Amino acid sequence: MIKKITHSGKEIGRVVGNTSPQEFTFYLRRYSAKLGDLVSVLTSIPRDKNDENDKKPVSSQGKDNTEEVIVWGRITSLNRYNPFLPSEAGLELADQGVELLDTVLSSSRDQLEANVLVLGASRAGEYNKLFPLSYPVQPGNVVRLPPRETVETVLVGDDKETPRIPVGSLIGRNDVPIKLKVNSIVARHMVILAMTGGGKTVAARRIMRELMDMGYPLLILDPHGDYLKFAQMPDKFPNNKVSLFYPSVMVTEQNRDVVSYLVSEMTQGFTDPQREVFWEAIEKVSINDRESIEGFISNVLDQLQNVDKALTSKKNLNATGRVVQRNLRLVRQQMENMSKTNEKLRRRMPKLEVRFEAMPDPKTNPQGFVYPGRVSILYLGGYEHLTQSTIAALVLGSLYEHRASLTDEIAPFMTVVEEAHNFIPSRSEGGTTIPSVAVIRKVITEGRKFGVGLLLISQRPSRLDETALSQCNTFLVLRLVNPRDQQFVEKVMENLSKADRSLLPNFGQGQGIVSGQAVRFPLLVKIRFDDDLVSSSLGDENLISIVQNWPNTTQGNSAAMGRQFKDDLKNAGV
Ligand SMILES: Nc1ncnc2c1ncn2[C@@H]1O[C@H](COP(=O)(O)OP(=O)(O)OP(=O)(O)O)[C@@H](O)[C@H]1O
Ligand SMILES: [Mg+2]
Repeated sequence: MIKKITHSGKEIGRVVGNTSPQEFTFYLRRYSAKLGDLVSVLTSIPRDKNDENDKKPVSSQGKDNTEEVIVWGRITSLNRYNPFLPSEAGLELADQGVELLDTVLSSSRDQLEANVLVLGASRAGEYNKLFPLSYPVQPGNVVRLPPRETVETVLVGDDKETPRIPVGSLIGRNDVPIKLKVNSIVARHMVILAMTGGGKTVAARRIMRELMDMGYPLLILDPHGDYLKFAQMPDKFPNNKVSLFYPSVMVTEQNRDVVSYLVSEMTQGFTDPQREVFWEAIEKVSINDRESIEGFISNVLDQLQNVDKALTSKKNLNATGRVVQRNLRLVRQQMENMSKTNEKLRRRMPKLEVRFEAMPDPKTNPQGFVYPGRVSILYLGGYEHLTQSTIAALVLGSLYEHRASLTDEIAPFMTVVEEAHNFIPSRSEGGTTIPSVAVIRKVITEGRKFGVGLLLISQRPSRLDETALSQCNTFLVLRLVNPRDQQFVEKVMENLSKADRSLLPNFGQGQGIVSGQAVRFPLLVKIRFDDDLVSSSLGDENLISIVQNWPNTTQGNSAAMGRQFKDDLKNAGV
């Protein structure tokens, strides 16, 4: 006896027109489904002679050579059309200003045509096992909206045991949660792309909050202070120790070369003779325990001054020495300026439960950044992009080395990189001269082996390094309007369909498409908004009120102004 497969769910339409194993179209009953919904169709396909299923007497097998399967698909576009309202009639109505109801024309006979991208098919009761469909669905068949439990089984697949984190729900079905496979994110890297205001930071906070609950160590490179809220509410994160760091490049015996690194990045670099003079001087300078980079450069400059005095007769060497000195002064000056700006920005911040500390040395004290339960936020505000990149390269590079040396000095960890286009720009955006590019590329290609993961976030996808990005495994793409950015996304995301690309500019805040190893197939998602984690940053203050309350003197009153600015920031909840 043939056991009929049960096809549950509300009937929402019928398959029509041309169908293929990849897609089909159906007429949708009005108001019964939305864009992005998962739908199912029961259809017969030719039986695979070598299939194990073939041998089972009780199955969903139809006549000898066919079997019934459920085909799963996602609505990728919806078109509405009323054949009883021809365009001529519409024109007439518009011209005369007549209401449709006052005519004999029908306003209720419109047709809804839904296009569906086929995700796969499954056999009776095996919704967790999806196989590619190799035969088109039958026109005329019923299309159903499957119940929540079934959709969840289809989404999760076989591996119920795999740890997952909830990020939101299926667009249009907030009863269906979307969960990402944690291991795919933390080891195989994830990218969040969207235009500004699209909801990247909200999505990143959602993912980070779940990882924090699991005690997974995080290092956050935070140029804007978007993640400082994690340090404002320790009661919400009882399993974590959140540390706030400001950049502080220390020179130790092990990393003396950091100065020449900065010179080569921040200035035109040294010629060979200049490098010789520099190294001669640097080797004579002793390092007192841990010295700040500015202090160390001052000592090297003093040393060069002495050498200079001793060499007054040798003009050439003298000139060389002076170029070396100039470059070193330039680096010292830039480092001092940026560190002062960073300090000013920190002082303007609201009272945080955690105090900012100078960052530990990633080479000698990697545990200062990474251990289970720790969240290290490195606040990079005030630093130029190149210096931010240099600091990121130093920190991430050293921590990666500790993992790659397999000495188990530090636990696996994930690094969150906001404004990733500044850290891993494409070649045409100066990618070859930016120090963090090499480190991030290495982590993307090799990090998986050593438990070093990346969460890259950017609002300028087309400025990112394409080769590196295409090796990331999970993508969350929210609203994107710029065609160049859309093009980039299409190139780096293997399975983004044309229909999905066309959705990108129309997504609302927090809506997007998630695809890659963390999910079974690309899905439209609405990210859950953790409004308790929102922290307004500098730039969100009410400028109109600041101007309206500006002290009424011609010269201004800087003290009052400072107070006012601070008050406004506080009121803005910063
Ligand atoms: N999932 C969401 N649900 C509801 N509202 C959201 C969601 N995501 C973002 N928003 C709204 O959009 C605002 C901007 O979001 P967010 O700061 O994450 O954008 P962004 O992409 O990081 O922007 P930027 O590029 O400027 O950093 C939020 O303050 C919030 O009001
Ligand atoms: Mg943001």
